[in-house]
Amino acid sequence: MILSTPRLDLREMTDDDLPALRAILHDPVVMVAYEGAFSDAESLAWLRRLQERYAQDGFGLWAVVLRETGGMIGQCGITRQKIEDDEVIEVGYLFQRAHWRRGYAIEAASACRDWAFRTLEAEDLYAKVRATNVPSMNVAIRLGMTVRRTFTTHYRGVDMPHLAFALTRGEWSRTVPGGS
Ligand SMILES: CC(C)(COP(=O)(O)OP(=O)(O)OC[C@H]1O[C@@H](n2cnc3c(N)ncnc32)[C@H](O)[C@@H]1OP(=O)(O)O)[C@@H](O)C(=O)NCCC(=O)NCCS
Repeated sequence: MILSTPRLDLREMTDDDLPALRAILHDPVVMVAYEGAFSDAESLAWLRRLQERYAQDGFGLWAVVLRETGGMIGQCGITRQKIEDDEVIEVGYLFQRAHWRRGYAIEAASACRDWAFRTLEAEDLYAKVRATNVPSMNVAIRLGMTVRRTFTTHYRGVDMPHLAFALTRGEWSRTVPGGS
């Protein structure tokens, strides 16, 4: 177990989680910010990339398990990312549509944010958000982040304007209850 919150446990994803992962990555509504649903091959590649990150970095996107049912309802965690030429630490979050709008994303992402500052001793934490992804922006705002700059990525043949949300260690310790 990596992290626990009042309703959720976060742990590394295994091959047994592929069906729950597909319930996220194969849903065209969930994946609208990624230009549509993934195939089986793309979902398997996503899991393998996460497992590489666990081995190389010791962290990645983790499985979010609803403790009440024991089922995986989402993925949330910390990854190394690039924003243009800069290497950043990012919090990421993707949840099954059936579990949206109950506060699970902010609950998991807040725990990951605090883990990044306390355990990883990050100086800044970012969230890369596609400029059309309002629910994701709202999670970033609730994490205490503000927009630092705009940038464009090229993914699946499409230019995607993005916002770089971020929170510094100083802002976290000044503004987040219990942040220090
Ligand atoms: C981004 C994403 C995780 C956000 O999910 P979400 O359900 O909106 O976020 P939360 O789980 O934090 O829920 C917050 C909402 O639940 C409501 N809510 C209901 N019960 C709640 C509770 N007990 N506690 C907190 N909020 C609660 C909040 O009021 C809020 O609604 P609002 O935004 O209309 O004010 C989800 O839209 C998603 O998976 N999108 C697809 C993947 C994606 O694009 N990820 C981001 C890539 S950058």
